Amino acid sequence: MDTRLNLTICHPRPSSGQGSNTVVAESLVPTDLPANHVLIKVDRFGYSTNNVTYQALGEVPHFRYFDFHEAPNAPEYGVSPTTHGVTPVWGFGTVVASTLPAIHSGERVYGYFAPTCFIVLSVSPSDVNRYAFTVSRPHLPKDRRPYNQITRCSTDPLYDQSPLVEDLTMLYRPLFWTSFWCEDWLNTSQYRGGASRILISSASAKTAFCLAYLIRKRGDTLDKTSPTRQVVGLTSRKNLEFTKNLGLYDHVLEYDGLENAAVMNEPSQTWIYVDVAGNESLNSRVHSHFSDAKLSLAGTVALGLTNLSPSSKSPSAEKWTRNDFSLQSAPSTFEQFFMPEWLARRRKELSVGEITRMQKHAWSGLMQDCRTWGVVIRRVCGAQNVKRAYEEVVRFGIPPDQGLIWSMWEEDAVNARL
Ligand SMILES: NC(=O)c1ccc[n+]([C@@H]2O[C@H](COP(=O)([O-])OP(=O)(O)OC[C@H]3O[C@@H](n4cnc5c(N)ncnc54)[C@H](OP(=O)(O)O)[C@@H]3O)[C@@H](O)[C@H]2O)c1
Repeated sequence: MDTRLNLTICHPRPSSGQGSNTVVAESLVPTDLPANHVLIKVDRFGYSTNNVTYQALGEVPHFRYFDFHEAPNAPEYGVSPTTHGVTPVWGFGTVVASTLPAIHSGERVYGYFAPTCFIVLSVSPSDVNRYAFTVSRPHLPKDRRPYNQITRCSTDPLYDQSPLVEDLTMLYRPLFWTSFWCEDWLNTSQYRGGASRILISSASAKTAFCLAYLIRKRGDTLDKTSPTRQVVGLTSRKNLEFTKNLGLYDHVLEYDGLENAAVMNEPSQTWIYVDVAGNESLNSRVHSHFSDAKLSLAGTVALGLTNLSPSSKSPSAEKWTRNDFSLQSAPSTFEQFFMPEWLARRRKELSVGEITRMQKHAWSGLMQDCRTWGVVIRRVCGAQNVKRAYEEVVRFGIPPDQGLIWSMWEEDAVNARL
Protein backbone atom coordinates (compact mmCIF):
# COMPACT_ATOMS: atom_id res chain seq x y z
CA MET A 1 0.00 0.00 0.00
CA ASP A 2 1.11 3.57 -0.75
CA THR A 3 2.17 4.80 2.69
CA ARG A 4 0.65 8.24 1.97
CA LEU A 5 -2.76 6.69 1.41
CA ASN A 6 -5.14 6.37 4.32
CA LEU A 7 -8.05 3.94 4.54
CA THR A 8 -10.83 4.61 7.04
CA ILE A 9 -14.05 2.75 7.85
CA CYS A 10 -16.86 5.34 7.75
CA HIS A 11 -20.55 5.00 8.59
CA PRO A 12 -23.33 7.31 7.42
CA ARG A 13 -24.47 9.59 10.23
CA PRO A 14 -28.12 8.89 11.16
CA SER A 15 -28.80 12.63 10.68
CA SER A 16 -27.61 12.44 7.06
CA GLY A 17 -30.41 10.06 6.08
CA GLN A 18 -27.91 8.20 3.88
CA GLY A 19 -28.84 4.69 5.01
CA SER A 20 -26.36 2.28 6.52
CA ASN A 21 -23.77 1.53 3.83
CA THR A 22 -20.36 1.27 5.42
CA VAL A 23 -17.56 2.67 3.28
CA VAL A 24 -13.79 2.18 3.25
CA ALA A 25 -12.83 5.73 2.27
CA GLU A 26 -9.44 6.60 0.79
CA SER A 27 -7.78 9.88 1.69
CA LEU A 28 -4.25 11.23 1.73
CA VAL A 29 -2.08 11.45 4.81
CA PRO A 30 -0.85 15.05 5.19
CA THR A 31 2.78 15.49 4.19
CA ASP A 32 3.12 18.67 6.25
CA LEU A 33 2.01 18.03 9.79
CA PRO A 34 0.69 21.22 11.47
CA ALA A 35 2.38 22.48 14.65
CA ASN A 36 1.57 20.47 17.80
CA HIS A 37 0.29 17.43 16.00
CA VAL A 38 1.24 13.76 15.87
CA LEU A 39 0.72 11.30 13.06
CA ILE A 40 0.11 7.79 14.37
CA LYS A 41 0.05 4.54 12.44
CA VAL A 42 -2.83 2.58 13.97
CA ASP A 43 -1.41 -0.94 13.98
CA ARG A 44 -4.36 -2.88 15.34
CA PHE A 45 -7.39 -2.45 17.55
CA GLY A 46 -9.94 -4.46 19.50
CA TYR A 47 -13.56 -4.66 18.46
CA SER A 48 -16.50 -5.76 20.61
CA THR A 49 -20.14 -4.92 21.15
CA ASN A 50 -18.89 -1.86 23.02
CA ASN A 51 -17.80 -0.40 19.66
CA VAL A 52 -21.21 -1.20 18.16
CA THR A 53 -22.69 0.82 21.03
CA TYR A 54 -20.26 3.70 20.36
CA GLN A 55 -21.51 3.75 16.78
CA ALA A 56 -25.17 3.54 17.77
CA LEU A 57 -24.69 6.48 20.17
CA GLY A 58 -22.47 8.38 17.72
CA GLU A 59 -24.77 11.38 17.46
CA VAL A 60 -26.60 11.01 20.79
CA PRO A 61 -25.94 14.33 22.62
CA HIS A 62 -24.93 12.82 25.99
CA PHE A 63 -22.20 10.70 24.32
CA ARG A 64 -21.25 12.17 20.92
CA TYR A 65 -18.92 9.29 19.98
CA PHE A 66 -18.72 10.55 16.39
CA ASP A 67 -17.16 13.78 17.69
CA PHE A 68 -13.83 12.17 18.67
CA HIS A 69 -12.51 11.53 15.16
CA GLU A 70 -13.66 13.29 12.03
CA ALA A 71 -14.51 11.27 8.95
CA PRO A 72 -12.17 12.20 6.07
CA ASN A 73 -13.18 14.39 3.16
CA ALA A 74 -13.39 11.83 0.37
CA PRO A 75 -15.85 13.21 -2.23
CA GLU A 76 -15.33 10.30 -4.62
CA TYR A 77 -16.74 8.02 -1.89
CA GLY A 78 -19.49 10.47 -0.92
CA VAL A 79 -17.82 10.78 2.49
CA SER A 80 -17.37 13.96 4.53
CA PRO A 81 -17.37 14.85 8.24
CA THR A 82 -20.95 16.08 7.98
CA THR A 83 -22.34 13.00 6.27
CA HIS A 84 -20.28 10.27 7.95
CA GLY A 85 -19.01 9.25 11.35
CA VAL A 86 -16.05 7.19 12.49
CA THR A 87 -16.45 4.75 15.38
CA PRO A 88 -13.76 5.03 18.05
CA VAL A 89 -11.71 1.91 18.81
CA TRP A 90 -9.05 1.16 21.43
CA GLY A 91 -5.77 0.07 19.94
CA PHE A 92 -2.01 0.18 19.71
CA GLY A 93 -0.17 2.43 17.33
CA THR A 94 3.23 3.84 16.50
CA VAL A 95 4.10 7.52 16.21
CA VAL A 96 5.23 8.11 12.62
CA ALA A 97 5.76 11.89 12.75
CA SER A 98 5.46 14.57 15.39
CA THR A 99 5.72 18.34 15.54
CA LEU A 100 6.02 18.28 19.32
CA PRO A 101 9.60 18.17 20.62
CA ALA A 102 8.66 15.82 23.49
CA ILE A 103 7.10 13.14 21.26
CA HIS A 104 9.29 11.19 18.88
CA SER A 105 8.60 9.00 15.91
CA GLY A 106 8.89 5.28 16.60
CA GLU A 107 7.16 5.56 19.98
CA ARG A 108 4.57 2.86 20.83
CA VAL A 109 1.28 4.23 22.12
CA TYR A 110 -2.15 2.98 23.22
CA GLY A 111 -5.29 5.01 22.86
CA TYR A 112 -8.73 5.79 21.58
CA PHE A 113 -8.12 5.63 17.87
CA ALA A 114 -10.24 4.98 14.81
CA PRO A 115 -10.52 2.11 12.31
CA THR A 116 -8.02 3.71 10.00
CA CYS A 117 -4.39 3.22 8.91
CA PHE A 118 -3.22 6.63 10.10
CA ILE A 119 -4.59 9.17 12.50
CA VAL A 120 -3.57 12.80 12.97
CA LEU A 121 -4.11 14.15 16.49
CA SER A 122 -3.77 17.65 17.90
CA VAL A 123 -1.89 17.75 21.21
CA SER A 124 -1.24 20.77 23.39
CA PRO A 125 2.47 20.86 24.43
CA SER A 126 1.42 21.52 28.04
CA ASP A 127 -0.49 18.23 28.01
CA VAL A 128 2.54 16.01 27.40
CA ASN A 129 4.16 14.15 30.29
CA ARG A 130 6.28 11.00 30.73
CA TYR A 131 3.24 8.75 30.89
CA ALA A 132 0.74 10.19 28.45
CA PHE A 133 -0.23 12.99 26.16
CA THR A 134 -3.69 14.41 25.81
CA VAL A 135 -5.54 15.04 22.58
CA SER A 136 -7.07 18.54 22.42
CA ARG A 137 -10.82 18.25 22.03
CA PRO A 138 -12.15 21.54 23.42
CA HIS A 139 -15.52 20.84 21.79
CA LEU A 140 -16.17 17.89 24.17
CA PRO A 141 -17.04 17.94 27.90
CA LYS A 142 -14.05 17.81 30.31
CA ASP A 143 -15.07 14.44 31.76
CA ARG A 144 -14.16 12.77 28.44
CA ARG A 145 -10.51 13.06 29.48
CA PRO A 146 -9.96 9.25 29.74
CA TYR A 147 -10.79 9.03 26.04
CA ASN A 148 -8.35 11.83 25.17
CA GLN A 149 -5.29 10.39 26.88
CA ILE A 150 -2.79 8.58 24.72
CA THR A 151 -0.72 6.24 26.88
CA ARG A 152 3.03 6.06 26.24
CA CYS A 153 3.81 2.35 26.39
CA SER A 154 7.45 2.76 27.45
CA THR A 155 6.38 4.14 30.86
CA ASP A 156 3.02 2.39 31.22
CA PRO A 157 3.15 0.06 34.23
CA LEU A 158 0.43 -2.08 32.63
CA TYR A 159 2.20 -2.50 29.28
CA ASP A 160 3.65 -5.79 28.08
CA GLN A 161 4.91 -5.90 24.51
CA SER A 162 4.15 -9.56 23.86
CA PRO A 163 1.64 -9.71 20.98
CA LEU A 164 -0.81 -11.82 23.00
CA VAL A 165 -0.82 -9.39 25.94
CA GLU A 166 -1.22 -6.47 23.52
CA ASP A 167 -4.25 -8.28 22.05
CA LEU A 168 -5.73 -8.98 25.48
CA THR A 169 -5.10 -5.35 26.43
CA MET A 170 -6.99 -3.98 23.43
CA LEU A 171 -9.81 -6.39 24.10
CA TYR A 172 -10.25 -6.03 27.84
CA ARG A 173 -8.80 -2.67 28.87
CA PRO A 174 -11.78 -0.46 27.93
CA LEU A 175 -14.32 -2.95 29.24
CA PHE A 176 -12.51 -4.11 32.34
CA TRP A 177 -12.04 -0.59 33.68
CA THR A 178 -15.75 0.04 33.29
CA SER A 179 -16.48 -3.11 35.27
CA PHE A 180 -13.77 -2.20 37.78
CA TRP A 181 -15.06 1.32 38.46
CA CYS A 182 -18.67 0.13 38.42
CA GLU A 183 -17.82 -2.39 41.13
CA ASP A 184 -15.99 0.37 43.03
CA TRP A 185 -19.08 2.56 42.66
CA LEU A 186 -21.36 -0.18 44.02
CA ASN A 187 -18.91 -0.94 46.82
CA THR A 188 -18.77 2.71 47.86
CA SER A 189 -22.43 2.43 48.85
CA GLN A 190 -21.89 -1.06 50.36
CA TYR A 191 -23.82 -2.38 47.41
CA ARG A 192 -26.70 -0.03 47.92
CA GLY A 193 -26.97 -0.71 51.62
CA GLY A 194 -26.17 -4.42 51.67
CA ALA A 195 -27.48 -6.23 48.60
CA SER A 196 -26.48 -9.90 48.70
CA ARG A 197 -27.45 -10.91 45.15
CA ILE A 198 -26.42 -9.25 41.90
CA LEU A 199 -28.31 -10.07 38.73
CA ILE A 200 -26.49 -9.22 35.47
CA SER A 201 -28.02 -9.31 31.98
CA SER A 202 -26.00 -10.11 28.81
CA ALA A 203 -23.89 -12.17 31.18
CA SER A 204 -21.75 -13.51 28.32
CA ALA A 205 -20.52 -9.99 27.45
CA LYS A 206 -16.99 -9.18 28.59
CA THR A 207 -18.13 -6.10 30.52
CA ALA A 208 -20.69 -8.24 32.35
CA PHE A 209 -18.46 -11.17 33.21
CA CYS A 210 -15.56 -8.90 34.24
CA LEU A 211 -18.01 -7.32 36.70
CA ALA A 212 -18.99 -10.77 38.01
CA TYR A 213 -15.26 -11.58 38.34
CA LEU A 214 -14.62 -8.38 40.31
CA ILE A 215 -17.63 -8.77 42.61
CA ARG A 216 -16.41 -12.23 43.51
CA LYS A 217 -12.85 -10.98 43.89
CA ARG A 218 -13.95 -8.28 46.34
CA GLY A 219 -15.29 -10.96 48.69
CA ASP A 220 -12.56 -13.55 48.06
CA THR A 221 -9.38 -11.52 48.19
CA LEU A 222 -9.72 -7.76 48.32
CA ASP A 223 -11.89 -7.40 51.38
CA LYS A 224 -12.41 -10.59 53.31
CA THR A 225 -14.76 -8.80 55.73
CA SER A 226 -17.12 -7.96 52.89
CA PRO A 227 -20.32 -10.05 53.00
CA THR A 228 -20.65 -12.94 50.56
CA ARG A 229 -22.58 -11.97 47.48
CA GLN A 230 -23.97 -14.26 44.84
CA VAL A 231 -23.82 -13.22 41.21
CA VAL A 232 -26.51 -14.48 38.86
CA GLY A 233 -26.08 -14.13 35.09
CA LEU A 234 -28.85 -13.90 32.50
CA THR A 235 -28.00 -14.86 28.95
CA SER A 236 -29.42 -16.22 25.71
CA ARG A 237 -29.71 -19.95 25.09
CA LYS A 238 -26.88 -19.98 22.54
CA ASN A 239 -24.48 -18.41 25.02
CA LEU A 240 -25.53 -20.42 28.08
CA GLU A 241 -22.72 -23.02 27.93
CA PHE A 242 -20.03 -20.40 27.37
CA THR A 243 -21.30 -18.33 30.29
CA LYS A 244 -21.53 -21.31 32.64
CA ASN A 245 -18.04 -22.47 31.65
CA LEU A 246 -16.58 -19.09 32.61
CA GLY A 247 -17.04 -20.19 36.22
CA LEU A 248 -17.58 -16.58 37.29
CA TYR A 249 -21.28 -16.72 38.15
CA ASP A 250 -22.95 -18.58 40.99
CA HIS A 251 -25.94 -19.26 38.72
CA VAL A 252 -26.45 -18.73 34.99
CA LEU A 253 -30.03 -18.55 33.72
CA GLU A 254 -31.53 -18.27 30.27
CA TYR A 255 -33.64 -15.21 29.57
CA ASP A 256 -36.56 -17.54 28.86
CA GLY A 257 -37.97 -18.84 32.08
CA LEU A 258 -35.85 -16.74 34.45
CA GLU A 259 -38.99 -16.27 36.59
CA ASN A 260 -39.12 -19.99 37.40
CA ALA A 261 -35.54 -20.44 38.59
CA ALA A 262 -35.32 -21.33 42.29
CA VAL A 263 -32.65 -18.67 42.91
CA MET A 264 -35.03 -16.03 41.58
CA ASN A 265 -37.69 -17.00 44.10
CA GLU A 266 -35.79 -17.17 47.36
CA PRO A 267 -37.13 -14.68 49.89
CA SER A 268 -35.04 -12.56 52.32
CA GLN A 269 -32.41 -11.53 49.80
CA THR A 270 -31.78 -8.02 48.56
CA TRP A 271 -30.83 -7.67 44.91
CA ILE A 272 -29.16 -5.23 42.55
CA TYR A 273 -29.93 -5.64 38.87
CA VAL A 274 -27.12 -4.59 36.49
CA ASP A 275 -28.49 -4.29 32.98
CA VAL A 276 -25.89 -4.81 30.25
CA ALA A 277 -28.41 -5.83 27.56
CA GLY A 278 -30.56 -2.68 27.49
CA ASN A 279 -33.58 -4.68 26.38
CA GLU A 280 -36.81 -2.94 27.41
CA SER A 281 -39.02 -6.01 27.43
CA LEU A 282 -36.48 -8.02 29.44
CA ASN A 283 -36.21 -5.19 31.95
CA SER A 284 -39.98 -5.06 32.29
CA ARG A 285 -40.08 -8.79 32.91
CA VAL A 286 -37.28 -8.63 35.49
CA HIS A 287 -38.94 -5.78 37.37
CA SER A 288 -42.38 -7.41 37.21
CA HIS A 289 -40.89 -10.60 38.61
CA PHE A 290 -39.26 -8.76 41.50
CA SER A 291 -42.57 -7.13 42.25
CA ASP A 292 -44.71 -10.29 41.83
CA ALA A 293 -42.33 -12.49 43.86
CA LYS A 294 -42.05 -9.71 46.50
CA LEU A 295 -38.24 -9.68 46.23
CA SER A 296 -36.33 -6.72 47.48
CA LEU A 297 -34.53 -4.71 44.78
CA ALA A 298 -32.08 -2.09 46.07
CA GLY A 299 -31.21 -0.68 42.67
CA THR A 300 -31.07 -1.15 38.95
CA VAL A 301 -27.98 -0.06 37.07
CA ALA A 302 -27.92 0.63 33.34
CA LEU A 303 -24.44 -0.41 32.24
CA GLY A 304 -24.72 -1.41 28.61
CA LEU A 305 -26.84 -1.70 25.51
CA THR A 306 -25.72 -4.93 23.82
CA ASN A 307 -29.11 -5.23 22.12
CA LEU A 308 -28.63 -1.95 20.30
CA SER A 309 -27.69 -2.25 16.64
CA PRO A 310 -25.83 0.52 14.78
CA SER A 311 -28.93 1.72 12.99
CA SER A 312 -31.51 1.16 15.70
CA LYS A 313 -33.49 4.04 17.08
CA SER A 314 -34.55 2.02 20.05
CA PRO A 315 -36.32 3.31 23.12
CA SER A 316 -33.20 2.37 25.12
CA ALA A 317 -31.08 4.76 23.08
CA GLU A 318 -33.71 7.43 23.62
CA LYS A 319 -33.41 6.89 27.36
CA TRP A 320 -29.65 7.41 27.24
CA THR A 321 -30.34 10.56 25.24
CA ARG A 322 -32.69 11.92 27.85
CA ASN A 323 -30.61 10.59 30.71
CA ASP A 324 -33.88 9.43 32.22
CA PHE A 325 -34.03 5.91 33.54
CA SER A 326 -37.25 5.78 35.48
CA LEU A 327 -39.30 2.89 34.18
CA GLN A 328 -42.93 2.57 35.15
CA SER A 329 -42.35 -1.10 35.86
CA ALA A 330 -39.28 -0.42 37.97
CA PRO A 331 -39.94 -0.55 41.70
CA SER A 332 -36.62 1.19 42.42
CA THR A 333 -34.40 3.79 40.87
CA PHE A 334 -32.80 3.01 37.48
CA GLU A 335 -29.31 4.51 37.63
CA GLN A 336 -26.97 4.98 34.71
CA PHE A 337 -23.29 4.13 35.16
CA PHE A 338 -20.97 6.11 32.90
CA MET A 339 -17.36 5.41 33.79
CA PRO A 340 -15.73 8.77 32.89
CA GLU A 341 -18.13 10.60 35.22
CA TRP A 342 -17.44 8.29 38.19
CA LEU A 343 -13.70 8.27 37.53
CA ALA A 344 -13.64 12.07 37.54
CA ARG A 345 -15.11 11.97 41.06
CA ARG A 346 -12.73 9.24 42.29
CA ARG A 347 -9.76 11.23 41.00
CA LYS A 348 -10.76 13.94 43.48
CA GLU A 349 -11.17 11.44 46.36
CA LEU A 350 -8.11 9.20 45.83
CA SER A 351 -4.47 10.04 45.17
CA VAL A 352 -2.88 9.22 41.83
CA GLY A 353 -0.67 6.70 43.66
CA GLU A 354 -3.67 4.92 45.19
CA ILE A 355 -5.45 4.69 41.85
CA THR A 356 -2.30 3.39 40.13
CA ARG A 357 -1.77 0.76 42.83
CA MET A 358 -5.41 -0.41 42.71
CA GLN A 359 -5.34 -0.61 38.94
CA LYS A 360 -2.01 -2.38 38.68
CA HIS A 361 -3.10 -5.02 41.15
CA ALA A 362 -6.42 -5.58 39.38
CA TRP A 363 -4.84 -5.64 35.92
CA SER A 364 -2.14 -8.18 36.71
CA GLY A 365 -4.84 -10.44 38.21
CA LEU A 366 -6.95 -10.09 35.09
CA MET A 367 -4.06 -10.84 32.72
CA GLN A 368 -3.52 -14.14 34.51
CA ASP A 369 -7.11 -15.13 35.11
CA CYS A 370 -8.64 -14.23 31.72
CA ARG A 371 -6.65 -16.92 29.91
CA THR A 372 -8.91 -19.66 31.25
CA TRP A 373 -12.14 -18.01 30.14
CA GLY A 374 -12.35 -19.59 26.70
CA VAL A 375 -12.14 -16.34 24.71
CA VAL A 376 -10.03 -17.00 21.60
CA ILE A 377 -8.33 -14.13 19.76
CA ARG A 378 -9.49 -13.83 16.13
CA ARG A 379 -7.36 -11.48 14.05
CA VAL A 380 -8.57 -9.88 10.83
CA CYS A 381 -6.17 -7.84 8.67
CA GLY A 382 -6.76 -5.62 5.62
CA ALA A 383 -9.35 -2.87 5.14
CA GLN A 384 -11.80 -4.89 3.02
CA ASN A 385 -11.56 -7.89 5.37
CA VAL A 386 -12.25 -5.62 8.33
CA LYS A 387 -15.27 -4.17 6.54
CA ARG A 388 -16.58 -7.70 5.91
CA ALA A 389 -15.92 -8.68 9.52
CA TYR A 390 -17.81 -5.58 10.68
CA GLU A 391 -20.77 -6.45 8.44
CA GLU A 392 -20.75 -9.96 9.92
CA VAL A 393 -20.93 -8.43 13.41
CA VAL A 394 -23.92 -6.32 12.40
CA ARG A 395 -25.74 -9.35 10.97
CA PHE A 396 -24.88 -12.01 13.54
CA GLY A 397 -23.57 -10.23 16.65
CA ILE A 398 -20.28 -11.11 18.34
CA PRO A 399 -19.95 -14.65 19.68
CA PRO A 400 -18.72 -14.30 23.25
CA ASP A 401 -15.89 -16.78 22.76
CA GLN A 402 -14.26 -14.60 20.10
CA GLY A 403 -11.89 -11.76 20.90
CA LEU A 404 -11.82 -9.66 17.74
CA ILE A 405 -8.56 -7.89 16.89
CA TRP A 406 -8.63 -5.97 13.64
CA SER A 407 -6.11 -4.06 11.56
CA MET A 408 -6.66 -1.92 8.49
CA TRP A 409 -3.20 -3.01 7.37
CA GLU A 410 -2.47 -6.16 5.42
CA GLU A 411 -0.97 -8.85 7.63
CA ASP A 412 2.66 -8.27 6.62
CA ALA A 413 2.37 -4.52 7.31
CA VAL A 414 0.61 -4.61 10.69
CA ASN A 415 3.74 -4.18 12.74
CA ALA A 416 5.99 -2.80 10.00
CA ARG A 417 7.90 0.35 10.88
CA LEU A 418 7.34 3.18 8.39
N1 LIG B 1 -21.32 2.35 30.64
C1 LIG B 1 -20.08 2.32 30.18
O1 LIG B 1 -19.26 3.20 30.48
C2 LIG B 1 -19.66 1.15 29.31
C3 LIG B 1 -18.30 0.87 29.10
C4 LIG B 1 -17.92 -0.31 28.40
C5 LIG B 1 -18.92 -1.11 27.86
N2 LIG B 1 -20.24 -0.76 28.04
C6 LIG B 1 -21.29 -1.52 27.38
O2 LIG B 1 -21.31 -2.88 27.75
C7 LIG B 1 -21.91 -3.62 26.69
C8 LIG B 1 -21.12 -4.88 26.45
O3 LIG B 1 -19.96 -4.62 25.70
P1 LIG B 1 -18.84 -5.76 25.47
O4 LIG B 1 -17.90 -5.15 24.51
O5 LIG B 1 -18.41 -6.25 26.80
O6 LIG B 1 -19.69 -6.89 24.74
P2 LIG B 1 -19.23 -8.29 24.09
O7 LIG B 1 -18.25 -8.99 24.95
O8 LIG B 1 -18.92 -8.10 22.67
O9 LIG B 1 -20.67 -8.99 24.26
C9 LIG B 1 -21.15 -9.99 23.47
C10 LIG B 1 -22.54 -10.37 24.03
O10 LIG B 1 -23.48 -9.29 23.88
C11 LIG B 1 -24.77 -9.81 23.54
N3 LIG B 1 -25.05 -9.36 22.17
C12 LIG B 1 -24.13 -8.97 21.26
N4 LIG B 1 -24.72 -8.56 20.12
C13 LIG B 1 -26.04 -8.68 20.31
C14 LIG B 1 -27.17 -8.41 19.51
N5 LIG B 1 -27.06 -7.92 18.27
N6 LIG B 1 -28.39 -8.68 20.03
C15 LIG B 1 -28.49 -9.16 21.28
N7 LIG B 1 -27.43 -9.41 22.10
C16 LIG B 1 -26.23 -9.17 21.62
C17 LIG B 1 -24.65 -11.33 23.66
O11 LIG B 1 -24.84 -11.59 25.07
P3 LIG B 1 -26.10 -12.39 25.75
O12 LIG B 1 -26.46 -13.50 24.84
O13 LIG B 1 -25.48 -12.85 27.05
O14 LIG B 1 -27.16 -11.36 25.95
C18 LIG B 1 -23.18 -11.53 23.30
O15 LIG B 1 -22.66 -12.74 23.78
C19 LIG B 1 -21.96 -2.70 25.47
O16 LIG B 1 -23.29 -2.23 25.24
C20 LIG B 1 -21.07 -1.57 25.89
O17 LIG B 1 -21.36 -0.35 25.30
C21 LIG B 1 -20.61 0.35 28.74
